[in-house]
Amino acid sequence: MFQVNGKPFLMLAGEVHNSNSSSLEAMEPVWAKAEELDLNSVLLPVTWELIEPEEGRFDFELVDGLITQARKRNLKLAFLWFGTWKNAQCMYAPEWVKTDLDRFWRAEVAKGQHKKTLESFHGMQYTTLSAFCGETCKADSRAFAALMRHLKVFDGQARTVVYVQVENESGLQGAAREHSDLADELFAAEVPQDLADHMKAHSSTMREDVRAAVENGAVSGSWAEVFGPLAEEIFQCYYVARYIDAVAAAGKAEYDIPLAVNAWLEQGEPGNYPSGGPVGKLLELWQFAAPHIDVICPDIYVRDYCRVCEEYHRNGNPLLIPETGIHSHAGPRLVYTVGHHHAWGFSPFGFEEMGEPIDAAIGILFGMDTGDPLLSTPQSVQEYAWYNRTLRDLTPMLVQCYGTRRLQAVISEQAERTMVFDGYSIAASMDHPMVRRKDGVCLALQASDNEFYLIANGCALAFASADPGKPHVDILALEDGSFVNGEWKMLHRLNGDEAQIMNYGKPTLLRVKLFAYR
Ligand code: DGJ
Repeated sequence: MFQVNGKPFLMLAGEVHNSNSSSLEAMEPVWAKAEELDLNSVLLPVTWELIEPEEGRFDFELVDGLITQARKRNLKLAFLWFGTWKNAQCMYAPEWVKTDLDRFWRAEVAKGQHKKTLESFHGMQYTTLSAFCGETCKADSRAFAALMRHLKVFDGQARTVVYVQVENESGLQGAAREHSDLADELFAAEVPQDLADHMKAHSSTMREDVRAAVENGAVSGSWAEVFGPLAEEIFQCYYVARYIDAVAAAGKAEYDIPLAVNAWLEQGEPGNYPSGGPVGKLLELWQFAAPHIDVICPDIYVRDYCRVCEEYHRNGNPLLIPETGIHSHAGPRLVYTVGHHHAWGFSPFGFEEMGEPIDAAIGILFGMDTGDPLLSTPQSVQEYAWYNRTLRDLTPMLVQCYGTRRLQAVISEQAERTMVFDGYSIAASMDHPMVRRKDGVCLALQASDNEFYLIANGCALAFASADPGKPHVDILALEDGSFVNGEWKMLHRLNGDEAQIMNYGKPTLLRVKLFAYR
């Protein structure tokens, strides 16, 4: 589990819209919303252009103000370093970087071409700094190191800032790799042998197409020889990861707290999504090339949430979701991500608007699938706050169960919804004719041999024995309630109809005691 100052911390977070942390005034209503949602932490951009307006002159007044505002509300923070990359663009680089094209070159998507319009992205224009420009990497590293040095002094004791994300959705839009003369030369040269060896040695955990490319390629040689059809993306990825690792290393040398990267997920061919970014299929490469990064995170705006979680929660990479939609699956996803993946944290993007009607135009821009009614139905604020409060109350028990099968969860977005524990199984039926909502979730925590705590919503529950020697099960006690000052407080002793037809149509915390017998 994620630790802050030696203590476990479950991030029940939200990420703010990109521009809200650019002034303390703009943040006021945002803090209020965070409190309304009962978040315990907020993800905030800190931008290169604002902290280093002139080369070498740093201004941390805003950073300090944000930390002070958060402390007043007893909230923790994660900072998102918008430096060289923000969504495969360089819009947050300072003016002195953007305008000095000779010193800080832009990426060439084709020979001599630095800007690309992508029709598949509503005609958006992409330009970005080159991953091959040593000067830009040095300048970004210096700025990031200065930020981390400052954070250590201002916040090292209090540890309000619990982790920092290095860059945002890095990579190249418009082509699978850069095409400058230097990039071409490196692409034709030999693959660094340690990378080729690492990829071969780790091919068994790779996705099928990546494994095939890695295993069928030569043991050494040019990128095309070693990585075949994936050569261009793997090449770009290696250089982006090395670049970000250099920035991360410079920051970590100043202040050693966890560092993250986040990914714009795969959509079609590389270049239609940022090529070189930390997509799940290239986790092994990122882990090798960016050892100063502690967690590789997916920004999940696609429908197959559960598959993406699996893709990132492997090879020792903990799951941390910095961005996902604020639609009606947000609350269930939070509970599932904690209960099934034992995650570091979960953070819907643009939480300021949670509960408000989802504007179709904005939905399209933010990658939300507005064609699906559930993905365009807003998450209720009240329910989301309930989930956060309940998970917070359960945290001492969650901590005990992380990494064990005593904590499990299922969600309507996946097909299999039975959880098998020592002695019992719990089926959460979400297609049951009596279940009226489609955003179901169930988290079950086995507190002792026969006792469970459950978070249930949008499901009908059935308990069964998992012990062939004792095939029958009785419910000895069933209660709903909450924790008050760490003590269980029952609201209803549920029996009769309520214990026969266990259909939970609103978020409910249950305690159940079971008995298995011959
Ligand atoms: C992903 C980015 O990482 C965020 O900063 C934001 O731009 C969202 N997309 C908007 O959908």
